[in-house]
Amino acid sequence: MGLKTRPLAPAIGREVIDLDLSKPLDDATFEEIKGLFNDSGILLFRNQNLTEEQHIALSRRFGPLQSHVLKDYLKSSHPEILVVSNILDDKGRPIGIGDAGQLWHSDTSYLAEPCHCSLLYAREIPAPDGERSYGDTAFATLVGPFEALSPDMKNKIANKRAVHSYEAYYIRRQTEGSKRPSLTKQQKDETPDVVHPLVRPHPITGRNTLFVNESYTVRILDMKEAESDALLSELIAFGIDDRFVYRHKWRKGDLILWDNWSTQHLAIGDYALPQRRLLHRTTVLAH
Ligand code: OGA
Ligand code: MN
Repeated sequence: MGLKTRPLAPAIGREVIDLDLSKPLDDATFEEIKGLFNDSGILLFRNQNLTEEQHIALSRRFGPLQSHVLKDYLKSSHPEILVVSNILDDKGRPIGIGDAGQLWHSDTSYLAEPCHCSLLYAREIPAPDGERSYGDTAFATLVGPFEALSPDMKNKIANKRAVHSYEAYYIRRQTEGSKRPSLTKQQKDETPDVVHPLVRPHPITGRNTLFVNESYTVRILDMKEAESDALLSELIAFGIDDRFVYRHKWRKGDLILWDNWSTQHLAIGDYALPQRRLLHRTTVLAH
């Protein structure tokens, strides 16, 4: 096939080299990208120069797009775009979510139908200091951890289900000092707690995943609370072991496409103004 690629880390990720995403992709190239994506969980495309319209058009090829529940941070011109940024406008208000994803998570695992994929495009990234970069994002596969569990543990969790809660996450972020305003009643109503199996087969590839994350998974059902807490901590720690992780050092013009059904990610919040970070995210729904 025609695309040049290289692996990003042993267990997760590929870079697609020298592909200009501002141009419409022909069907054969798009099918090849989907195949690579299903295999590797995240795809990196460097040196892109995309308008908002091009970012949205590319995203739409993967499926219908979602607007995030935090409506304040959507671009008013393009509500499909969620602004992820620490920048303030001239009135001192945040132009985007400043602390998005600073705990491990799969996007919208708190919905009954978690979104399929996200496309995050870097518009401004803090300058590195020699080798030292700022505002990296770490990605971990959910497939490798499931496969690496002991047979006993696989048995133990085989039919277990867990609660995922956006509200619990939100309250936790506030107690940890996030400056976000409280969720409105409407936002709460849009995000009731949901239940997912701990072992969730990927809807496209059928591969089993260990579908837990430290942000949203709060409780394993049919277990005492203390036992659930202990097992969740164990599984969450296991899933983010270095061998399952790729840590991305962003450059302006990078676009990363990730699969929320087979991976999770973490934003590293190790920068502050006057260092500026601005990325645009689109989110593709289950379809
Ligand atoms: C997101 C997210 C991570 C980052 O946009 O979903 O988690 O590093 N972002 O900005
Ligand atoms: Mn995220």
